[in-house]
Amino acid sequence: MDNIYLPTPENIKQAALTIQNGGLIAFPTDTVYGLGANVYNAAAVAGIFKAKERPLFDPLISHIAEIDFLREYAETDSRALGLAQRFWPGPLTFVLRRKDQNPSIDLACAGLSSIAVRMPNHPVALELIKKSGVPIVAPSANRFKTVSPTTAQHVRDSLGNKVDMILDGGACRIGVETTIIDLTTPRIVILRAGGLSKEELEDFTGEKTYLAHDNPDTPKAPGQLLKHYAPRMPLRINVREEDVRPDEFFIGFGKVSHAQLNLSPNGDLCEAAANLFAFLRKAEKHTEYNGIAISPIPENGLGLAINDRIRRASYKE
Ligand code: TXA
Ligand code: MG
Repeated sequence: MDNIYLPTPENIKQAALTIQNGGLIAFPTDTVYGLGANVYNAAAVAGIFKAKERPLFDPLISHIAEIDFLREYAETDSRALGLAQRFWPGPLTFVLRRKDQNPSIDLACAGLSSIAVRMPNHPVALELIKKSGVPIVAPSANRFKTVSPTTAQHVRDSLGNKVDMILDGGACRIGVETTIIDLTTPRIVILRAGGLSKEELEDFTGEKTYLAHDNPDTPKAPGQLLKHYAPRMPLRINVREEDVRPDEFFIGFGKVSHAQLNLSPNGDLCEAAANLFAFLRKAEKHTEYNGIAISPIPENGLGLAINDRIRRASYKE
């Protein structure tokens, strides 16, 4: 059975009803596809963990379409509201102190006293959330530890019929997950580099932000495992063209002449981020190769998020 649907008003309405009734809907966002459920339906939320085979200690992000939900949900202050005004809807997730003590959301929060919230910049996601009338919790719509989905077909390949409906909004514009910032502390800590660059954040706040993985003492997002986003073949990163082995599929970046795929021939990091997960999926299908090699990626702008993902994808257990 094909469960991919065009996001017509009728289908979005049907999807919203399914959310209200405890079903699972995969939907497009600006970053990657999400696997959504009603945050207040613990059984539905448990269904997400089951479908993804995700451990229960790993909390989920709540997706909202109106700022009012943020105030009900979390302790907000002028810093959080200012950031929301500037960057929402968009690729930025806040971790805030949890205010809503409804026990049905304990599972979504993995029992933590904080909660992660974002407002996605995608008309289908926003319409779905509004029509559902509740925040939608959604991890990326892929099996745990594997490459995140940036098209409806990726979701279908990864989760099949474990999802009631997959709303097809085409390829995701940004292609890597949101930047997650911890706003429970005086200094802003980036828990996960993502679709909003550190530079843009700092330009707006006028303050230096810190990367959680640079400091072993700062708490990290519990789901940030060393091995993650893994394709089905060994992956080597920071590989120069002359060092690619004959049995490796080469994903280039910038000016390289012999790449099988190039994330961005002009060296544009936004284009590279948008291509990253789809290219990893394409590469892993080439079973005539024994591995994947990727060019060095500059460590600025969206390069931070790209390097974070490929570092984890290349991690050997
Ligand atoms: O772009 C995105 O953020 C996508 C789309 C679908 O919105 N979602 C996504 O969700 O990437 P997921 O579940 O794959 O990653 C969520 C991350 C996990 O690493 C989790 O540990 C962290 O957010 N997280 C959630 N709640 C948290 C909390 N209260 N404190 C710290 N980290 C939290
Ligand atoms: Mg994920």
